[in-house]
Amino acid sequence: MNPASTIEEAMATRRSCRAFLPTPVPRAQVERLLALASSSASNSNSQPWQVHVLTGAAKRALTADLLCAYDEGRRAVGEFAYQPAADSWPEPFRSRRRRFGEGLYSETLGLAADDTAGRSGHHRRNYDFFGAPVGLVLTVSRAPLQGALIDAGLFLQGLMLSARGAGLHTCAQASFIDYHPVLRRHLTIPDDHLVVCGIALGYADDDHRLGGYRTSREPVESFVTFYDSAAVTHQAEPV
Ligand SMILES: Cc1cc2nc3c(=O)[nH]c(=O)nc-3n(C[C@H](O)[C@H](O)[C@H](O)COP(=O)(O)O)c2cc1C
Repeated sequence: MNPASTIEEAMATRRSCRAFLPTPVPRAQVERLLALASSSASNSNSQPWQVHVLTGAAKRALTADLLCAYDEGRRAVGEFAYQPAADSWPEPFRSRRRRFGEGLYSETLGLAADDTAGRSGHHRRNYDFFGAPVGLVLTVSRAPLQGALIDAGLFLQGLMLSARGAGLHTCAQASFIDYHPVLRRHLTIPDDHLVVCGIALGYADDDHRLGGYRTSREPVESFVTFYDSAAVTHQAEPV
């Protein structure tokens, strides 16, 4: 379980967990994590998030309907999704995405690139929250959307790090957006809210072969520019 006791430890040990033990997480614990996550910053303290927490029969019923929709190819369109279609990612993100897929599907799960059924079988597990005992659905107000999505991201990170402090793991899951009509049938999501993602929450099954999968990161110098000297290149202002 190894709870993180510092922020650094929580950051370093957070990962997207895709195999959970059935060990239940008490409701009071979930409430405590959500209270911590709600201390996240938000634009003008607008707190535009709402969270739907599913356990037990409610989670099983949602999963059954989601899997049915998935198996029948009832992927929904129309709802805003922040994730572009697989073939429209520009570089360098396209390559990073491909690398992520290779690490997960080929190297960890041993599924060949043309094993569509095998890969679909793994993707399908998203809708069971990867076996986690707690499934959450995060939504935000549609207006003003851009700011709300940033706030939702901060809330999500707050929740994921707080979970580590309690020895729990998480996985953010944009895959739920594809079946938002099913979510809307099961949950009381206001019309003026958008589904941001699902979140699996529970204790990691470290013995599962997915338990060892880790992603890499670009080095700091690849995305940071430091400015120290006062030298500024003055360019003529346009008249
Ligand atoms: C907004 C968001 C949506 C995501 N959606 C999914 C998803 O639907 N299914 C999944 O298995 N992982 C999902 N992930 C996890 C990412 O693949 C993961 O964060 C990334 O590969 C980096 O790996 P790490 O979280 O283990 O460090 C999502 C992550 C974020 C932040």
